[in-house]
Amino acid sequence: MASPAGEARGFVAAANPRTPADAVRVIFLGPPGAGKGTQAARLASHLALPKIGTGEMLRTAIARNTPLGQQVHPFMETGNLVPDHLLLALVRERIAEPDCDRGFVLDGFPRTLTQARGLEEMSGDPRAWVVFDFEVPRAELMLRLSGRRWCPSCQATFHLLNDPPKKPDLCDLCGTTLVQREDDHESVVALRLQQYDERTFPLIEYYRTRARMVPIDGHRPMDVVFKELLEAVEVRA
Ligand code: AP5
Repeated sequence: MASPAGEARGFVAAANPRTPADAVRVIFLGPPGAGKGTQAARLASHLALPKIGTGEMLRTAIARNTPLGQQVHPFMETGNLVPDHLLLALVRERIAEPDCDRGFVLDGFPRTLTQARGLEEMSGDPRAWVVFDFEVPRAELMLRLSGRRWCPSCQATFHLLNDPPKKPDLCDLCGTTLVQREDDHESVVALRLQQYDERTFPLIEYYRTRARMVPIDGHRPMDVVFKELLEAVEVRA
């Protein structure tokens, strides 16, 4: 099942059936606002693979007020990472679903060395995995996060200037009023960036020798970035 938000925004899904032996696994690394979610949705839709966005899954749990949602909300609203054991359990359960047999696109996971090691226990040798490492200047990240608008109903993402909805403040897909994510406020963003630097940045070095690492200059138009991603995965897909 490809990302519903991706499909509904007109991204073309590939008619490309794969077997478990050809499974494609893609990881998106990068700081908050680098464009991981935007591009992961497009890529998953194009490859007809599920997109597993841990931030999205956690926001859904919060919106539904599930026990997991109640547990993670205090971490997310303050910009802290959610404890590893919760993320590992969430992802383990998700990738055991049959639609992941042919591969998956991970957005926002792993984010710590413990999570990276846990993923290998679940999913095997990472040598054939594609790891995109998005780089975007800090000033641009701040502009993207402050201008991001998000649909609390279907989780589609827009930007006031870079990717505006067709009707002001309304989701193109479901018509829900768009909001600013609570962790996109300036005071919270500072801590998210710090968490990225301290806990996620070391994964770049970790994967450099273990997987197929592809550095991406994310400070370019969305379509240009997407074309580069496609070129990188189609070598393997
Ligand atoms: P998560 O939802 O994963 O947030 P994030 O990683 O901080 O990333 P963002 O969603 O902020 O940014 P993005 O890179 O996806 O950018 P986007 O495409 O939206 O995590 C949220 C929280 O959940 C974490 O802080 C943590 O608490 C918890 N969590 C999640 N996973 C966890 C884990 N594994 N372990 C522990 N805790 C976890 O783009 C941003 C904006 O820019 C958009 O408005 C977009 O339209 C625009 N844009 C995108 N690309 C471009 C472009 N090329 N040019 C111009 N504008 C662009």
